[in-house]
Amino acid sequence: MDQEQFERPHDPTNGLGPVFNATSCASCHHLELAFADTARLSSGVRGRHLSRNAPTLLNRAYGKTFFWDGRAASLEAGVLLPIENPDELALPLDRLVARLRASPVPSAAVS
Ligand code: HEC
Repeated sequence: MDQEQFERPHDPTNGLGPVFNATSCASCHHLELAFADTARLSSGVRGRHLSRNAPTLLNRAYGKTFFWDGRAASLEAGVLLPIENPDELALPLDRLVARLRASPVPSAAVS
């Protein structure tokens, strides 16, 4: 995922196609705020309120556990959680894969 896809995943010109709808990672993890959110509780799809605040994503590649309660053991596992969370991006992974397959991304990227 590059910066363009992180901020505007729904923009058909970014090479990813319409994978997510209007909500993106950057809806909560704001680039200008070190990928964090100043809202005490972040807002998700269709105006739903989350029970937590979006933390910074800076240096998370060096983390040992992820999320406020440490429930994801790896960054790779953690990135899938906000995609499926019904209050965040609300996109089941099988639908994400179907959308990626239908998008202009080279098929090798989603094999
Ligand atoms: C609707 C708001 C929202 C969206 C959209 C969202 N996040 Fe998050 N993100 C959060 C919140 C809130 C947390 C903290 C949740 C927790 O700890 O339970 C979080 C936590 C994380 C973490 C763990 C950070 C840490 O320090 O452990 C990662 C990684 C992450 N998000 C990546 C992403 C990615 C990548 C996307 C896009 C695919 C995304 N997020 C979309 C709100 C959001």
